[in-house]
Amino acid sequence: MDLVNGLASVVLHITIAVFLAAYLPISLVWRMIRRRFVKPLRKEDMAGKVVLITGASSGIGEQLAYEYARRGAYMALVARRKQALHDVALTAQDLGAPDVLVLPADISNPDESKWVVEETVAHFGQLNHLVANAGIGSCCFFEDITNITAFTKVMDVNFWGAVYPTYYALPHLKKNRGNIIATASIAGRVPTARLSFYNASKAAMIRFYETIRSELGSEIQITILLPGYVVSEMTKGKFISDSGEVGISEEARDIQVGPLPIENTKRLATIVVDSACRGQDYVTWPSWYRTLHMVMCLAPEVINWFSCSFYIAKAGNPLSNIPLTKRILEVTGAKKFLYPSAIHSAAFKKDE
Ligand SMILES: NC(=O)c1ccc[n+]([C@@H]2O[C@H](COP(=O)([O-])OP(=O)(O)OC[C@H]3O[C@@H](n4cnc5c(N)ncnc54)[C@H](OP(=O)(O)O)[C@@H]3O)[C@@H](O)[C@H]2O)c1
Repeated sequence: MDLVNGLASVVLHITIAVFLAAYLPISLVWRMIRRRFVKPLRKEDMAGKVVLITGASSGIGEQLAYEYARRGAYMALVARRKQALHDVALTAQDLGAPDVLVLPADISNPDESKWVVEETVAHFGQLNHLVANAGIGSCCFFEDITNITAFTKVMDVNFWGAVYPTYYALPHLKKNRGNIIATASIAGRVPTARLSFYNASKAAMIRFYETIRSELGSEIQITILLPGYVVSEMTKGKFISDSGEVGISEEARDIQVGPLPIENTKRLATIVVDSACRGQDYVTWPSWYRTLHMVMCLAPEVINWFSCSFYIAKAGNPLSNIPLTKRILEVTGAKKFLYPSAIHSAAFKKDE
């Protein structure tokens, strides 16, 4: 029996290797042709289309709203902070959105998610793009957590808070061969220490959208976003900490981001909307994160070594009681040129 299983395994490995050797070069050329010549011709014009954006009160969602506005889209903006949403709506209208609906809601609640979709369709009569973007960060060691049940919130907002609006929006999106833009993260592909729940929620999101992409076929376009660090309230240090409370910690942010650049969110938004309108399946930005993902697939032990060495302080060693990421940041002074000035401000949009 063992011999049969062993033989079957060898045959399978050889078959897959031969298939990949033949398929990969062809698919690479085909993808290049599609990206360069076919997709630009099919670029969707957003003027007069309707977009629903969750997490639009700050950060990436806010900049996505402005980008859609510049293209003349109607939009519904969702988040919990009402005043912040109204401010974003006003700017979006100045930038060219013909009409903007403000829908304060908590998207981790299924009824509120249903309500935002129904209100959008009742107001505009259709829905073309759903941007499932709302999210929260968590940053601490798993073992240091003192209130474990508080962390269900990460999954509730990042995963279920994307699933619920997607579920209720699908029938409307299908009528127009619509588009779902799902803000996951490169963290869902490449895990680093301290972000256990955040990484898990983003990995779940990626798998969920990849699965329904195959179920829905060409009825719906799904664009999965895998951004690296960009300017937002999250990269100012807004995380759920070990006590389970949402707080602001620049120190935790410095350890987590370390000497990696924090990129421009407006630029990300332009790339995202361009890519979604061209029907791209994934947006990994900055593009060098793709290499990290490749390392994760081919040599996960390298990512594990990197995570242990750079993010974890060595207890009892006075020379390394601060994680290497933060030490590099301090010694090189890299924060000055790698972190944009917007990140240095501790100003957050408050609730009304
Ligand atoms: N910044 C980065 O470097 C980065 C990188 C990769 C991926 N991402 C992802 O990008 C997305 C946006 O985050 P961001 O970086 O722009 O951070 P952010 O500025 O903190 O924005 C998060 C948004 O989500 C909303 N939100 C949070 N909980 C919500 C809830 N229960 N119901 C409705 N809205 C809720 C927030 O609005 P209210 O507080 O007003 O509800 C806010 O508008 C997240 O999914 C995040 O994981 C960020």
